[in-house]
Amino acid sequence: MASTELREHALGDAQLDGCLALSRAAGWNQNAADWKLMLEIGRGWGLTLADGTLVASTLVLPYRGFAWVSMVLVLPAHRRKGYASRLLRRALADLEAGGLTPMLDATPAGRAVYLQEGFGDRWGFRRYQLQSAPRATRARATDVRPLNAGDWQPILALDAQAFGASREPLLRALAARLPQVALVAAREGAIRGYLLGRDGREARQLGPLVADEPETAIALLATALGRVTPPLYLDVADHAAPLVAWVKAQGCVEQRPFTRMAHGGQAAPGDASKVMLVAGPELG
Ligand SMILES: CC(C)(COP(=O)(O)OP(=O)(O)OC[C@H]1O[C@@H](n2cnc3c(N)ncnc32)[C@H](O)[C@@H]1OP(=O)(O)O)[C@@H](O)C(=O)NCCC(=O)NCCS
Repeated sequence: MASTELREHALGDAQLDGCLALSRAAGWNQNAADWKLMLEIGRGWGLTLADGTLVASTLVLPYRGFAWVSMVLVLPAHRRKGYASRLLRRALADLEAGGLTPMLDATPAGRAVYLQEGFGDRWGFRRYQLQSAPRATRARATDVRPLNAGDWQPILALDAQAFGASREPLLRALAARLPQVALVAAREGAIRGYLLGRDGREARQLGPLVADEPETAIALLATALGRVTPPLYLDVADHAAPLVAWVKAQGCVEQRPFTRMAHGGQAAPGDASKVMLVAGPELG
C-alpha cells in the first residue's frame, strides 16, 4: 500500500468504531467508554485508507512533566509497514514540543518498536487473569471500606506520589465505572491505599491499586474479590512479590508481561514501590 493512499488525521469520537475494531483485533480489553475517556483526557492520531478503514492508532495522555503513549495499534493485515513507527514519531514530536517526557507500558511486540525509537526499560508488571471464583477470599477487610467523597484529597496525594503526577480526572472517572471496588484502606485515620476498577470488553479490570505496602494491597484486593465476579484482569507490579504470590494463590493465571519504558534515558516518574496494580498499560 503506497503511503500516498493513507491519510493521517486526528482521532475523535467519529472514529470510535474504527478504534474499537483496532483494539478488538489485538484481543485487548478496552470498550467504547475506555476509548472515549482516553480521547477526552488525551489526544490521538490515526491512519486511514482510501476506503475509510482505520488501520493504525496512537494516543497520548498528557500529565505534568510527562505523558503516557497509549493505544499503539495496527490492524493485523497491515503490520510491518512502518505504520506504528510513523504514528509514534508523530506523538513524540507532539510531546517534545510540549516539553513532556514520553512514558509507556509495552507489550513484547510494542517493545521491539519502542527500543528503536529511543525508549528504555524501567520496570515490569504482568497481567493476571482470574476466570473463576477465587480460592480463599477470607476477609482481611478490617481496614478496608468504600471510598467516600472526603477521601479524594488523601487519595490524590498518595496517587501523585506513586504515579508522579496528578491524574484526578482519570481517577474520578474510574471511580464511577465500577463503584463496588472503589475502596480505601485506612489505619489510624490515615489512608494507606486505594483501589479502583472498571468494566471492559473481555473482563473487568482491577486497578489502579496504590498502597504503602503489599499487605495493604492484599487487604484491598481480598475485599474487592468478594464484590465482583470473574473474569477479572489484574496488572500486578513484579516488585510487589507478596502480592504476586497472593494473587497466584487465588487462582490467577499469568496472561502476558509488560515493560514500563521511559524515553531518552529519563527516570520513570513517581515512586514505583507504591504501585501495586497499574491502572492498565494504556493508562499507566
Ligand atoms: C506492535 C505493533 C503496534 C507494531 O506495528 P507495526 O506497524 O507492525 O510496526 P512497524 O512496522 O512500525 O515496525 C517497526 C519495527 O519494529 C520492529 N517490530 C515491529 N513489530 C515487531 C514484532 N512483532 N516483533 C519483532 N520486531 C517488531 C521491527 O524492527 C520493525 O521494522 P521492520 O518491519 O523493518 O523489521 C503491532 O504489531 C500491533 O498492533 N500489535 C498488537 C498490539 C500491540 O502489542 N501494540 C503495542 C502496544 S505497547
